[in-house]
Amino acid sequence: MSATAKKRSLMPDDIRAAKGGTPLVSLTAYTTPMAQMMDAHCDFVLVGDSVGMVLHGLPSTLGVTMDMMIMHGKAVARGLNTALMVIDMPFGSYEEGPSQAFRNAARLMAETGAGAVKLEGGAQMAETIAFLVARGIPVMAHIGLTPQSINTLGGYKVQGRGAAREAMLADAAAVTDAGAFALVLEKVPASLADDITAQIAIPTIGIGASAGCDGQILVVDDMLGLFTAFKAKFVKRYAHLGTDGAAAIEAYAAEVRARAFPAQEHVFADEAPK
Ligand code: KIV
Repeated sequence: MSATAKKRSLMPDDIRAAKGGTPLVSLTAYTTPMAQMMDAHCDFVLVGDSVGMVLHGLPSTLGVTMDMMIMHGKAVARGLNTALMVIDMPFGSYEEGPSQAFRNAARLMAETGAGAVKLEGGAQMAETIAFLVARGIPVMAHIGLTPQSINTLGGYKVQGRGAAREAMLADAAAVTDAGAFALVLEKVPASLADDITAQIAIPTIGIGASAGCDGQILVVDDMLGLFTAFKAKFVKRYAHLGTDGAAAIEAYAAEVRARAFPAQEHVFADEAPK
């Protein structure tokens, strides 16, 4: 789907229809300016619960709340015109069952204007996905490394190796049958991601999976080099804004301390109305 071909806001069905075509482009966003920068280039933008780690300094995504997602969702919505906005359901907002999930997904969509929600989990979430889809809530599924389950997965490890391979193929089929419009595959072996991509009818969106997926997503702070606490092997940094920013702040501090900062009265004189 080329950026220039876009004439209106993309819908979940547009994303679903991109299966097997030009790879879908996606990034996470949490603020209006970032969303504005990516709108022309991304098919969909995810207000990810990674916001907790990259913007709020939390140790994992588990502490992210509905209120945080709504605040960032509203900010991102103000920056988008054509890309579809998908918003993550935070940990604890959907796992109890379909009714809890519907209540919170409806709130996320109503209060932010998101066009779809994303939730983590495979076959165990199929009933919830079907319930949401039947009630007007498009769902993007997410399997493989699911960060909200970090405590049961035992770390940010590659998923779906060995005996877990068949279970992951079954998870992909289950969320597809339940009505998800796309599936995020995080940190799974490339051959498994390729098999899932070949076997299901909805687009796969890789993150540390395979270039053969129907699309790719990255956490924007990772690809811009803004989040430097750690870097997953699959992350390519397209810029180094974290180190550039730190150097800029150091230069500013040195100028202020040396009284080499631009003289304020000249700045104001230049700006005075003629
Ligand atoms: O929260 C997030 O950023 C995500 C992506 C890693 C897919 O779920």
